[in-house]
Amino acid sequence: MTSPTHADYDFVVVSNRLPVDRVVDAAGTASWSRSPGGLVTALEPVMRSADGAWVGWAGQPDLEIEPFENEGIHIIPVPLSEYDIANFYEGFSNDTLWPLYHDVIAVPGYHRDWWENYVLVNQRFADATAGIAAQGAVVWVQDYQLQLVPRMLREARPDLTIGFFNHIPFPPYGIYSQLPWRTQIIEGLLGADVIGFQRVADAGNFSRAVRRLTNYATKNPAIEVAVPGQPTRRVIARSFPISIDAASFEELAREPRIQERAREIREGLGNPKTVMLGVDRLDYTKGIGHRLKAFGELLAEGRLNVEDVTMVQVANPSRERVAAYMQLRDEIELTVGRINGDFGTMSHQAVSYHHHGYPRDEMVALYLAADVLLVTALRDGMNLVAKEYVASRFDDDGVLVLSEFTGASDELKRALLVNPHDIDGLKDAIVQAIQMPAKERATRMRSLRRRVLENDVERWSSNFLQTLEQARKGRYDRIAPMALPDELEWTVDRRWSN
Ligand code: G6P
Repeated sequence: MTSPTHADYDFVVVSNRLPVDRVVDAAGTASWSRSPGGLVTALEPVMRSADGAWVGWAGQPDLEIEPFENEGIHIIPVPLSEYDIANFYEGFSNDTLWPLYHDVIAVPGYHRDWWENYVLVNQRFADATAGIAAQGAVVWVQDYQLQLVPRMLREARPDLTIGFFNHIPFPPYGIYSQLPWRTQIIEGLLGADVIGFQRVADAGNFSRAVRRLTNYATKNPAIEVAVPGQPTRRVIARSFPISIDAASFEELAREPRIQERAREIREGLGNPKTVMLGVDRLDYTKGIGHRLKAFGELLAEGRLNVEDVTMVQVANPSRERVAAYMQLRDEIELTVGRINGDFGTMSHQAVSYHHHGYPRDEMVALYLAADVLLVTALRDGMNLVAKEYVASRFDDDGVLVLSEFTGASDELKRALLVNPHDIDGLKDAIVQAIQMPAKERATRMRSLRRRVLENDVERWSSNFLQTLEQARKGRYDRIAPMALPDELEWTVDRRWSN
């Protein structure tokens, strides 16, 4: 662990979680390991060339750690107490904003003490960033946990260029308007120079909320922030669909040891004709129950046979102290137990269920082993699992069943698109996926792969950062408006159209 030699960074990323995990070995010695996210992979080259720092929380309560360097990235830890974790993280971030922004699939809690702590913790992140950013630095704030940081930073450091990216959906105004602090959040975000969203629809929802809650004029892709006594500022709000480091998934999938592991996995499952796979954080937005219901009914009706089809469900533990997540776990595990009890045989399990995460090697082997990937989210900002599956299938095989309520479905049109609420439709799509002829599988997968390999996470970050650079220079003429898809024309306010 070395301390940075100076404290002024030209490029700063701010996110709730740091890109490193603290690992304590048997002897009690702590070290840091890089968490395997696409974001850090994409930003690493920028970090290295621009002398970058990453501000965030180390994932455990009350850890007061000095800044340190990890594999070329300067890490600036922000501490959270038990109280902050309960109120800022589990409370306002994940029991208010998360359900609200995902179409109120679960009921959001609106508690004033959660909000007060959210303001306080956002101020702590802003202060930590303001203290280490060089004069005129570029700062990129990530996600819904930190929506007040852009404005707080701008007030402290008007010299900075500030970007914000929302990784989750931004809800329609009819839903967003429930939030008692709806105006403060909008004003918080508008402290940025560029606000990025996953889908065009998210950027449209945001601009509509701006119009309803402020007097600022909006014209795709700009918002004119006019405060009396201050020069008008322009803020860009547009979509930048995120992706993965696609080439590294393909590279792994091409390794013989991973392919051997994929064969082993199928063998372990009793070599069924079809392996179906679900991979999700155990979250109520993911539609895991809908998927299990459809599969259970297909087995009950004899349209599928347990000797022929196995479903593997990887459910990554997540936010386990939040009540809605505890309840979801109980529901899912009860359903899995019932399906296995009703349909399993001595040699074949209907659902192979795993309540833990796996390293990337094992995930890629699973992707290769799976004939069908089921992504049935009820609402999802993007869904990177869908893109990981496609990137891994260099053999042009495998079928992606994809919910139309994911951001990924805007791009991955050649998947089998489903409405997960329509259980009969979902069942038909599952059967269609299992029976799809090899030629059609290959045509669809080739088209999906082109899309994912071309638009990787490196392109995402460079598009965002280029837009931020144009905004910094005031070259707004170089920032193209968003092309609005046909289906949005009726829902997008005229002032938001070109
Ligand atoms: C989503 C959010 C991320 C978050 C991740 C894991 O992908 O967009 O901001 O980090 O879930 O959730 P957690 O609560 O464990 O950070």
